[in-house]
Amino acid sequence: MGNKCKTHFSCLEVVLIVLLVLMTIITLILLVLLFIPQKSKTTGKKSTLLNATDSKNYRIGVGRADCTGPVAEVPLMGYANPDQRAGGILSRLYSRAFIVAEPDDSKRVVFVSADIGMLSQRLRLEVIKKLKSKYGDLYTQDNVILSGTHTHSAPAGYFQYTIFLLSSKGLIKPSLNAIVNGIVKSIDIAHQNMTRGRLFINKGLVENSQINRSPYSYLQNPESERNRYSSNTDKEMVVLKMVDVNGKELGLISWFAIHPVSMNNTNLLVNSDNVGYASYLFEQEKNKGLLPGEGSFVAAFASSNLGDVSPNIKGPHCINTGESCDNPNSYCPVGGAKMCMAAGPGTDMIDSTKIIGQNLYLKAKELFTLASQEITGPLHSTHQWVNMSNVTVQLNATHTGKTCKPALGYSFAAGTTDGVGFFNFTQGSLEGELFWEIIHNQLLGKPSNETKECHKPKPILLNTGEISLPYPWHPEIVDVQLFTIGSLAIAAFPGELTTMSGRRLREAIKSEFESHGTQGMNVVIAGLCNVYTHYVTTYEEYQVQRYEGASTIFGPHTLSAYIQLFRGLAKAIATNTIQDLLKGPEPPFMYITNMTLLPGVLADVAPINKTFGDVLQEVRAQYRVGEVAEVTFVGANPRNSAENTTHQTFLTVEKYENISGNWHVMYNDASWDTRFHWTKGFLGRSKAKVEWHIPCRIQYFGHYKVQPFLKSALFHSFKGTSSVFEVVKF
Ligand SMILES: *[C@@H]1O[C@H](CO)[C@@H](O)[C@H](O)[C@H]1NC(C)=O
Ligand SMILES: *[C@@H]1O[C@H](CO)[C@@H](O)[C@H](O)[C@H]1NC(C)=O
Ligand SMILES: *[C@@H]1O[C@H](CO)[C@@H](O)[C@H](O)[C@H]1NC(C)=O
Ligand SMILES: *[C@@H]1O[C@H](CO)[C@@H](O)[C@H](O)[C@H]1NC(C)=O
Ligand SMILES: *[C@@H]1O[C@H](CO)[C@@H](O)[C@H](O)[C@H]1NC(C)=O
Ligand SMILES: *[C@@H]1O[C@H](CO)[C@@H](O)[C@H](O)[C@H]1NC(C)=O
Ligand SMILES: *[C@@H]1O[C@H](CO)[C@@H](O)[C@H](O)[C@H]1NC(C)=O
Ligand SMILES: *[C@@H]1O[C@H](CO)[C@@H](O)[C@H](O)[C@H]1NC(C)=O
Ligand SMILES: *[C@@H]1O[C@H](CO)[C@@H](O)[C@H](O)[C@H]1NC(C)=O
Ligand SMILES: *[C@@H]1O[C@H](CO)[C@@H](O)[C@H](O)[C@H]1NC(C)=O
Ligand SMILES: *[C@@H]1O[C@H](CO)[C@@H](O)[C@H](O)[C@H]1NC(C)=O
Ligand SMILES: *[C@@H]1O[C@H](CO)[C@@H](O)[C@H](O)[C@H]1NC(C)=O
Repeated sequence: MGNKCKTHFSCLEVVLIVLLVLMTIITLILLVLLFIPQKSKTTGKKSTLLNATDSKNYRIGVGRADCTGPVAEVPLMGYANPDQRAGGILSRLYSRAFIVAEPDDSKRVVFVSADIGMLSQRLRLEVIKKLKSKYGDLYTQDNVILSGTHTHSAPAGYFQYTIFLLSSKGLIKPSLNAIVNGIVKSIDIAHQNMTRGRLFINKGLVENSQINRSPYSYLQNPESERNRYSSNTDKEMVVLKMVDVNGKELGLISWFAIHPVSMNNTNLLVNSDNVGYASYLFEQEKNKGLLPGEGSFVAAFASSNLGDVSPNIKGPHCINTGESCDNPNSYCPVGGAKMCMAAGPGTDMIDSTKIIGQNLYLKAKELFTLASQEITGPLHSTHQWVNMSNVTVQLNATHTGKTCKPALGYSFAAGTTDGVGFFNFTQGSLEGELFWEIIHNQLLGKPSNETKECHKPKPILLNTGEISLPYPWHPEIVDVQLFTIGSLAIAAFPGELTTMSGRRLREAIKSEFESHGTQGMNVVIAGLCNVYTHYVTTYEEYQVQRYEGASTIFGPHTLSAYIQLFRGLAKAIATNTIQDLLKGPEPPFMYITNMTLLPGVLADVAPINKTFGDVLQEVRAQYRVGEVAEVTFVGANPRNSAENTTHQTFLTVEKYENISGNWHVMYNDASWDTRFHWTKGFLGRSKAKVEWHIPCRIQYFGHYKVQPFLKSALFHSFKGTSSVFEVVKF
């Protein structure tokens, strides 16, 4: 057992510790000194501040709720790797909601960022329906943006279009319900906690955390355009800080372009990846002394134009030979594209997740602390449904272009250096199922000449727009949505924009506002919003058909079409003509009943002479800090716990408090220091292993026990208890 902690302090460390103590004392004294005059100042100012505010303040509410869903057997959404099925939990998933209302409550907008792969149309339709039944016309299609962080380690199964049903093993109701309920609950909490408050915006660069994973595509953009930027990724993070009128910190939203794929496609533990780790660090710091997932401060790290942006900053290498495969085809001399993978910067994927997450957290914290540019001014929200198969784009004075019926190109199947070998079409184990036979037959259908022509130069692998059995394969009716909160504009984008696509869209929205006399708008792109339509590249990037181009499903003019549509929304806001916007055709709601290839949950069984929760493999009596305490129990299928919102955690780590004689819960399963692994045995038997990765800090010395919490298929809850063990220094 390797002890990762240093057990002796070097001279340098002693000096640093002494300095730290001294600095802390000095800081405290300064704070006290600062605080006294400030207090009288603010009380003196309060009436004028509050008064000025009546027009200036908003009403603000923040909320967070669990949306984890089933953590066993369900495919994880993102890599579409059929072998990547959940087998436990590393961190819980949360929906984070933010409501901003005009001071007189005449208008409000809602922004939600959820720790899931992406929003789906099905999720959005169900959330909006629930909100309508609870709140009437307060929260609607028009003023609610739902965005996914794009973690690739969250359960799949909440889609209604066939292509996603395929990679999700169907529509998995427990997955869908957990997310719908989590999102609605986070909005409920934000709604109940609305208070008068202020908004501040700040921006800064995050270094050493991203690379462009399709640099060859990026290079296709005109040189004059590329020369305007210093990097082939957007390094800017935008932070929106929320405080109440007394200065109490409520929360923040950060937007930054990065794929949460620090965890690779071999990971089986449900978690929120690098951006989720950043939220965790921020919320743990602000909700001091509470378990993760508790406390009123809410920190969302939302997605943006991350289409071609990878966190695996060591770059692509051939895993067999070690040489770089940073070439136009991400191809290795031996083994081809399947061998070309990117990783880093850590020693393993969890380490990499934490390094990138920490970078995001530290920058956001700095921007949050220093934010001083206040956002004031009215709220506006616009929303349209658009049939993206049929948008005519005015390219210039003489030429128009047209979007196409959805189709995926060949490179789609190749995946990316963040996750190769995207899709396995020959799912032999699924034969005999009528559903899958229909799909097989449908797959033989050839794309029409019109679709082929429209998508050129994309060679079509799947003409998804022309297949509708058993359900349409891809959405055609897509949400475009734009909010403004004073000088902040939030463009809700229904997919993944590449770096340059995002820059063009932001610029177009900003210049549209300017052309109607509104200067200086701060435009942010919120990614993975409302409905998933894969990627959007620039026209130039599309020509070389790497993964992102092949996944631009509405053809070469997709970006131009979106720019035209978002300009239209900006114009409506700037010219006060929102009411004239066409609503567009409503998306379909598909009645998909129990279409799932997920195995049923067998009745759970305990081994002979054992019962649920019995210890199978005990902890040791003693661990040093930096080691991993682990214990294995007789388990039950965690899917039984998926929809029970009162079931808060699969595990606790408790410490014995010597003075009070009580056991105190130090950790739950939302902690990034704990892991819960579930493995299925034969005939309903299963094992649950709990790991506690003991941090290298002195305050952890003492006596502990570990407990798992589960439910058996017959719906009785049980827990287990490990022996007591001691954590020591040596
Ligand atoms: C606050 O502002 C309003 C107008 O916005 C004004 O009518 C009122 O007199 C002000 N109150 C105080 C206490 O200054
Ligand atoms: C939200 O408001 C409710 C009352 O409506 C209160 O009980 C709760 O503590 C508040 N929650 C937070 C996180 O502030
Ligand atoms: C995923 O990361 C682990 C390290 O955590 C590494 O051993 C493995 O090779 C990686 N797999 C892929 C497919 O990148
Ligand atoms: C496509 O849209 C145009 C208007 O932009 C409309 O005239 C036409 O009928 C639509 N075509 C189809 C097939 O829906
Ligand atoms: C969208 O437009 C296409 C092409 O104009 C048309 O064939 C299709 O039926 C429309 N889709 C929906 C869902 O209305
Ligand atoms: C308009 O766009 C088309 C297609 O991109 C191009 O061929 C043509 O040269 C452009 N015309 C002008 C005047 O820019
Ligand atoms: C595709 O799936 C089949 C059946 O599950 C399996 O035998 C085959 O190895 C898979 N191929 C790839 C490339 O993963
Ligand atoms: C499609 O194009 C091919 C080759 O250009 C032609 O032979 C065929 O007749 C066309 N099909 C239709 C339905 O127009
Ligand atoms: C699936 O649907 C069929 C028919 O609609 C119904 O009889 C059956 O009970 C359903 N099964 C489950 C597990 O919901
Ligand atoms: C179960 O326990 C009983 C009574 O203690 C014992 O006689 C029997 O051998 C045990 N069976 C097994 C399989 O351990
Ligand atoms: C949810 O779980 C809790 C504790 O595990 C249990 O007491 C409760 O009965 C469960 N509720 C439902 C609806 O299953
Ligand atoms: C608790 O207190 C007893 C008596 O003072 C001491 O012997 C024991 O080592 C303490 N345990 C821990 C975990 O500190």
